[in-house]
Amino acid sequence: MTDIADVLIVHGGTPLEGEIRVRGAKNLVPKAMVAALLGSEPSRLLGVPDIRDVRVVRGLLQLHGVTVKSGETPGELVLDPRRVESANVADIDAHAGSSRIPILFCGPLLHRLGHAFIPGLGGCDIGGRPIDFHFDVLRQFGAVIEKRADGQYLEAPKGLRGTKIRLPYPSVGSTEQVLLTAVLAEGVTELTNAAVEPEIEDLICVLQKMGAIISMDTDRTIRITGVEKLGGYKHRAIPDRLEAASWASAALATEGDIYVRGAQQRSMMTFLNTYRKVGGAFEIDDEGIRFWHPGGPLNAIALETDVHPGFQTDWQQPLVVALTQASGLSIVHETVYESRLGFTSALNQMGAHIQLYRECLGGSACRFGQRNFLHSAVVSGPTKLQGSDLVIPDLRGGFSYLIAALAAQGISRVHGISLINRGYENFLEKLRDLGANIEPPGEHGGTGGDRRGEAAAVA
Ligand code: EPU
Repeated sequence: MTDIADVLIVHGGTPLEGEIRVRGAKNLVPKAMVAALLGSEPSRLLGVPDIRDVRVVRGLLQLHGVTVKSGETPGELVLDPRRVESANVADIDAHAGSSRIPILFCGPLLHRLGHAFIPGLGGCDIGGRPIDFHFDVLRQFGAVIEKRADGQYLEAPKGLRGTKIRLPYPSVGSTEQVLLTAVLAEGVTELTNAAVEPEIEDLICVLQKMGAIISMDTDRTIRITGVEKLGGYKHRAIPDRLEAASWASAALATEGDIYVRGAQQRSMMTFLNTYRKVGGAFEIDDEGIRFWHPGGPLNAIALETDVHPGFQTDWQQPLVVALTQASGLSIVHETVYESRLGFTSALNQMGAHIQLYRECLGGSACRFGQRNFLHSAVVSGPTKLQGSDLVIPDLRGGFSYLIAALAAQGISRVHGISLINRGYENFLEKLRDLGANIEPPGEHGGTGGDRRGEAAAVA
């Protein structure tokens, strides 16, 4: 079990109602911060959330001589890369295991310093999450990579040159790796089978503001013409469509009503279509989206996750909690991460009926079919959920457990909640604002694993 100081006690059964705000996307902001390294002038990033991935990247940038200061408005960062320098390997290594973003420092550091050291990566345990594509593309640009016990050492003895690259799969991180490397590489880079998620388009907007030349074709091809020098940027980060969808699912599962200020229709179209099919209601205005449960039964659906513009994998876990309340059999086929359905065993422990399968159920055959991955699920509902002891497995799975605990009858103890701060800013405060009956660490006096928690909670 986790440290007791990391346990949230949740009294379920209260619909979440009210308003919360989402800021810049977790899957864009840290990358835009890395992009600032490529500039010869300071950059200003707006809408920056206070989450762990931002803190990790801020620390790594500072180690490399970039000054990072808060700007004049809340959520504004000013990043000044004019004195970039080599960092001490031991200091960088202190960030090992903290995030996946350090891998994106490779290209910018090779351009600025001629060498880079990348520590062991962290991130959610939702599949193998290899980094082979990243190193393959860096080698194509001319990088020499040496794997040592403490991490990866990179050099570019002949500089980095534009190249033709085809990704084996439209990987988000590898597409970003190519963008951040190609913009200052000599000549033209052509990337085919690229990822085209909204956060990638936003990163391209950032780079274009800095002076990069990047074009996107309709067929997942991105062309980058390297330039000699980039300036700074001023940019407001795209809102977090993944966090917004998490709150939308929480509204549905708890029979609540949440206005998500900052949520944007354009990047959530596929989610909104699915939400409507399940029976959720929403209303869009210029400032955000209101999500609510309109009453009556929810509908079972067939759902397949995919790269953009398909149904984003990060939307899957929170929505599955709502599907436990839908009438009939829902089918979920996870095609992006091979192990992203493992979190469902705890939902079953709470009373859900979810059966996992190795076969590709519904939709099309994916990379994981005929292999040993439980990547399809049949959710049979509606089922009443009961409070339970839950240990958070990963970021989205963890938020899904919170939703399940809030929707359940009785008390749940959710262990490892600090992991949720990797991607959800001020989530405890937001839960409180929405009327959730919770006792955060420090308020429940270490009552995590036994019945005393219930007594203390009632008191
Ligand atoms: N892949 C490889 N080799 C590689 C890179 C990726 O096989 O070198 C595979 C992965 O194992 C996976 C697939 O390609 O099966 C897609 O991975 P991708 O590279 O697209 O994911 P990522 O860049 O590591 C980002 C987000 C994820 C999000 C995915 C997909 C960040 C920091 N992370 O990860 O976000 O699920 O793209 O959109 O941007 C989350 O927010 O909870 C989260 C996990």
